[in-house]
Formats: sequence, C-alpha cells, structure tokens
Amino acid sequence: MTAAERVAIVTGAGQGLGRAYAARLAEAGTRVAVVDIAGDAARSAAEAIAAVAGAGRVTAHEADVTDAEQVGAFVGAVADRWGRVDALVNNAGGALLPTAPFDSFSRAEWTRVLDVNLTGQWLCATAVVPHMRAAGYGKIVNVTSTMVAKGLPAGLAPYVTAKAGVVGLTRALSRELGPDGIRVNAIAPGYIPVETRKTVHTPEAALALRERMKSEQCLPVVGVPDDLSGAVVFLCSPDSDFITGQVVNVDGGWTHG
Ligand SMILES: NC(=O)c1ccc[n+]([C@@H]2O[C@H](COP(=O)([O-])OP(=O)(O)OC[C@H]3O[C@@H](n4cnc5c(N)ncnc54)[C@H](O)[C@@H]3O)[C@@H](O)[C@H]2O)c1
Repeated sequence: MTAAERVAIVTGAGQGLGRAYAARLAEAGTRVAVVDIAGDAARSAAEAIAAVAGAGRVTAHEADVTDAEQVGAFVGAVADRWGRVDALVNNAGGALLPTAPFDSFSRAEWTRVLDVNLTGQWLCATAVVPHMRAAGYGKIVNVTSTMVAKGLPAGLAPYVTAKAGVVGLTRALSRELGPDGIRVNAIAPGYIPVETRKTVHTPEAALALRERMKSEQCLPVVGVPDDLSGAVVFLCSPDSDFITGQVVNVDGGWTHG
C-alpha cells in the first residue's frame, strides 16, 4: 500500500486540533475524511485541505460521533467511496462545559461529556474495525489528555474521567485487535489554546492556566495545533507498526516536568 492509497478518518476535524491533523495527513499523501457535528465547519475545512491536497482526496461528513447510525453512515460512505479505511483518528471531543465543582454537574451534563469524549470513540472504533479486520491492518489513534496524569485543572471532573476512560479503551482495544493487525494508540495533548476553550474557562482562568502549563513544562513554550500533528501522522503510518497500546504525551514535557 502506498501513502497515496491510504485513507484516514478524522473526527472533530472541522476546526482546532482535528483540522490540523486532517491537513497534515493530507499533506503526507493520505486521503482524508473530515467528520464534524458542525457540518459547515467540516465542509469548509475539507475545501481548504482539498485546495492543497487535490480535489477528490478529501471528503466532508456532518455527523455526531455519539450517534451509532450517523457513525455507521459516514464510515460506510468512506468505505464505499475509497474501498478501504486504514486509519481512524478519534479526535472529536472537548470539555464542553464551564469548569464547575464535580458534584454540581447534572446527570445529563455528565453523560454528555462521557458520551462525546469516550463512548463516541468506542462507537467509531466499532464501525471501522470490520473494514480493518477485512484488510488485516489498521491504525486507530484515540485522543486523551495530558490532564489525566494529574487530574488538573479543577472543575473538569467529567472531562478528566472521560479522557481517563480513553486510556483504558486504548489498552483494551490494542490487546483485542492486535491479532487482527490493528494498532491502537492514543495521544495526550498538552494545553493548546483553541477558540472553544473560551466556553470552558473564563479569560482570566485561561490565561492563568496557559502560563501555569508553560512554566511547568520542560519546554517553556505555548503549544500550537500543528505541534501535535507529527505524532498523529506517525501513529497513522507504517513507521509505527510495532507500536500499540501506548499513550504518547505531546505536551512539551508537562507530564514529566
Ligand atoms: N486544545 C487542548 O488543549 C486539548 C488538550 C488535550 C486534549 N484535547 C482534545 O483534543 C480534541 C480536539 O480538541 P480541540 O481543542 O481542537 O477542540 P475544538 O473544540 O476546537 O474542536 C473539537 C471539534 O469536535 C467537534 N465535535 C464536538 N462534539 C462532536 C460530536 N459529538 N461529534 C462530532 N464532532 C464533534 C466540534 O464541532 C469541533 O469541531 C478533543 O478531544 C479534546 O478533548 C485538546
């Protein structure tokens, strides 16, 4: 299989980190499906990426990763179009809610954060695995968070819990799917300022968190989305074929710092 034949699905790729992953995968020669619950964002990201990667090499799909039918539909559409699914980047997610004490979230809020960040990754894996099994090969890259290592910052209990679950999912799937040639890893991004963080942290808290993370990292710099893309491209490529069940911290050394 050449790089040009490979097909990757990136969820939550309409903006932020996912968009950067999709763009870099396309630059590396992979055909890419951009999936997002925000259809307009997915279409505009796909259009921008296709302008560089070439028409016919990028598709846009509006879908909610927590809805099994919608997940089945976009995975089916990708497989029908290109005849294969080599990689899945389970990126859709986020803290979604403003920071708050752990016991102040409603049951519905708690469940939604777990659904989007954890159950959605399981649903997407469930949908791509039959295609990967048939090929005897596949790459799944889940997205957790460096926050899991320390349970910080305060006020993100549902999010940290969901992302900790992603670590368990990654390890369980790597065991179960190894015999099928399917590699399952995760990346744990450090704090990368993106637009939607504004709904989670007040501007003052966001600034304080940014400065704190920077001062606690081995590398005293604020990360940008493209700082993570190389790790994602690597974990989707044959160069990482002997790596599975791992969580790669891409965090300027914060976890270790
Ligand atoms: N930015 C950071 O500092 C950081 C750190 C660690 C982990 N992460 C994780 O990285 C991923 C991307 O985060 P980001 O910072 O780019 O956030 P973002 O909000 O900019 O992007 C998330 C994207 O996911 C989409 N999305 C949300 N719910 C969805 C759903 N149910 N179905 C399909 N798409 C959905 C959104 O529309 C959005 O386009 C998330 O999983 C996040 O938890 C981010």
